[in-house]
Amino acid sequence: MNSQTSSKLHWSADGNQMPIISPHTLAKHQILSEYIEHLILTLYGKVYPRGVETFTLIDGFCGGGIYEEEAAQKKLKGSPILMIEAVRKAFRQAKKRQSLNVRYVFVDAGKEHVQCLKNHSMSYWGLENLIDGEKHLTQGEESTLTEQCEFIIGDFEKCSDYCITIASLRKGHSFFLLDPAGWDDVSVATMRKINDTPGSEILYTHMIGQLKRFVIGKYGKNKEKFERTLEGEGYYKKSNLESLDRVGEQMYLRNETARLFREKGFSHLNPHKKHLITFALIPRGKTQVLYYLIHMSRHITALEVIKERFCESNSLDYQYQYEVYGYGFRTFDITKSKGQLLLEPSLYEEEYSTLTINVDREHKDWRLFIKKFDEQIADLIYQNQDGITFMEICQKIGQFNPASRNMYEQYINFLRDNGDVEVLNSKGEILTQKTVRLRRRDVIRVSGRSYFQGSLLYSSRFFN
Ligand SMILES: C[S@@+](CC[C@H](N)C(=O)[O-])C[C@H]1O[C@@H](n2cnc3c(N)ncnc32)[C@H](O)[C@@H]1O
Repeated sequence: MNSQTSSKLHWSADGNQMPIISPHTLAKHQILSEYIEHLILTLYGKVYPRGVETFTLIDGFCGGGIYEEEAAQKKLKGSPILMIEAVRKAFRQAKKRQSLNVRYVFVDAGKEHVQCLKNHSMSYWGLENLIDGEKHLTQGEESTLTEQCEFIIGDFEKCSDYCITIASLRKGHSFFLLDPAGWDDVSVATMRKINDTPGSEILYTHMIGQLKRFVIGKYGKNKEKFERTLEGEGYYKKSNLESLDRVGEQMYLRNETARLFREKGFSHLNPHKKHLITFALIPRGKTQVLYYLIHMSRHITALEVIKERFCESNSLDYQYQYEVYGYGFRTFDITKSKGQLLLEPSLYEEEYSTLTINVDREHKDWRLFIKKFDEQIADLIYQNQDGITFMEICQKIGQFNPASRNMYEQYINFLRDNGDVEVLNSKGEILTQKTVRLRRRDVIRVSGRSYFQGSLLYSSRFFN
């Protein structure tokens, strides 16, 4: 094939033209693949005896399914292909007796993009049997995987009701990947409908870089679109934004973004079940975020699984940058990476650093965490003297700090070791083992023996 590439996002129907992949897209793809795999493994694979068996995966801005990797001169997969492969991988690993039933809906406004995906990329990646729209069964070791793909040429906003209806009729779990190239392609009204669909979640690419330009430029002609699509009246209002230093500005933009999508991306139903978490994609050497991946869900397990993935892919220094960006990733300039395999750790700016926290109790990482948790978890326990479930703790603060469920557990065990709290199982029995593996319905309450006074006591006890 005489392949012509283009750095713009264009795929030709015959697959001869395709975009050159950017490092940010690579990072996003890595997160997407790992997330889908772990989501299925968690919801379908790890719940006994029966987990979730029906999944609907919607890729609302699916593109052509194939990219050129310039440096290594090879082709890479686009989001629809990565999702199918991630599901298959999880299915093989889960080895469950129950069958897994997955439906994919691929939408794109670009006619040629959908044609490229359906008529070229699917067969290029060995998935040609799935282009007929029918159900296809694959026999695994213990059970069957059913796959069905639908391809739609259309504007996502206009197709969104159809996609939501499919997801709700099928029940089970649904995942919406909304990966537009502009900030105004998905309305918050559509996000609310998706988030109100039981068992659904969104991974959304928010083009903060584009948005900032006009927010600072005093809105101009985009103001009306901003208010209509994002209902953004009253957000990003700080009049002297330009006077903030660069880090302050990024922090402000992120906080406003999180506030906007938390308030407008969910309806008022279930106010305690609105989980939103961000992942920043930052070009090398810059402080400014190019775009955020925003994960929104009412599903606490989905939040936990995405947090683990964001944490694994994080290349920012937690201690200095979590408050500014959330999790994030800073990339190489692609032109400087010629000859290197971009999926290797060299993609990351310096050392590939995952967010590992040193839990040695003398280490400064652990002390920092204790301080953060004192402000969040300990106060919550103290305010609920009759006890609070582990689930409620995760729901209330899970989206406001980078810690994994495992770290919450370590912290609560730490409080137990100090005699400050006790943990009761769902039958009301106090757990006595040395280290407790917390279950969601376990109750944590202030111990009868404790002089526990929330974070004030903690600060003095642990930091003097
Ligand atoms: C960033 S690309 C998607 C890349 C793809 N998700 C991937 O990771 O391989 C954005 C796609 O959105 C499509 N698009 C732009 N506006 C759209 C709209 N309003 N509705 C649906 N698709 C749209 C473009 O044609 C383009 O293919």
